[in-house]
Amino acid sequence: MTMRVDVVTIFPELFELPLRTSIIGRAAEQALVSFGVHDLREHGIGRHRSVDDYPYGGGAGMVMRPEPLFAAIEPLRAQGAEVILMDPAGERLTDALARQLARAPHLALVCGRYEGIDERVRHLVDREVSIGDYVLTGGELPALVLIDAVVRLLPGAILEASHEGDSFATGLLEYPQYTRPESFRGMDVPPVLLSGNHGEVDRWRRRQALRRTADRRPDLLESAPLTDADRTILGEFSDDAGSS
Ligand code: ADE
Repeated sequence: MTMRVDVVTIFPELFELPLRTSIIGRAAEQALVSFGVHDLREHGIGRHRSVDDYPYGGGAGMVMRPEPLFAAIEPLRAQGAEVILMDPAGERLTDALARQLARAPHLALVCGRYEGIDERVRHLVDREVSIGDYVLTGGELPALVLIDAVVRLLPGAILEASHEGDSFATGLLEYPQYTRPESFRGMDVPPVLLSGNHGEVDRWRRRQALRRTADRRPDLLESAPLTDADRTILGEFSDDAGSS
């Protein structure tokens, strides 16, 4: 089944290359996903196809008017799209949310611009999503981030095994990876990875993932599914803090 993703934006050109390139482009070619990018200005008001105006009550910046956004969003809603407004005040995009959205048959991503959007537009959206606690100049890059995070999860987009072990999918950061050459500028690949002993390799990787998570993102350990063996390993880390 092909997932449908529509985007509403005043900068459709920003989507041209990213949606044609790499894994997303290949997923579209394979019909795992199809995209529709809609220029909000087609619904702009007056001779200048205006989509924004001054804020009531005064203040800096412009606010996106509701009529063009309603005109663009309503037909997508009518087609059954789940409408998502990209907004720094939205719920945070996480691995779990990306996996949930990857199961939706039809998403419509609405990109805000200027200082904000007329509050009444929020009545027309199903959810608001933020990609992090920083403010960008518009929702276009966040929409592309969401598309990238979701499309790579569609069955067939990449090898399933490539995202089963993702940081966050396992609840832990990923273990270190190496490829050729075996020795580079005095830095050697850990011998266990050359041993051919898959059991040993798995244990080493789990240990490294735990170590990296404990060092960099100890907050993740609170919700990660951990085995008794994992807890023993973590205990050893705190016993010999600093060494591996
Ligand atoms: N628009 C501007 N900043 C944003 C953010 N951090 N996430 C989603 N949409 C945005």
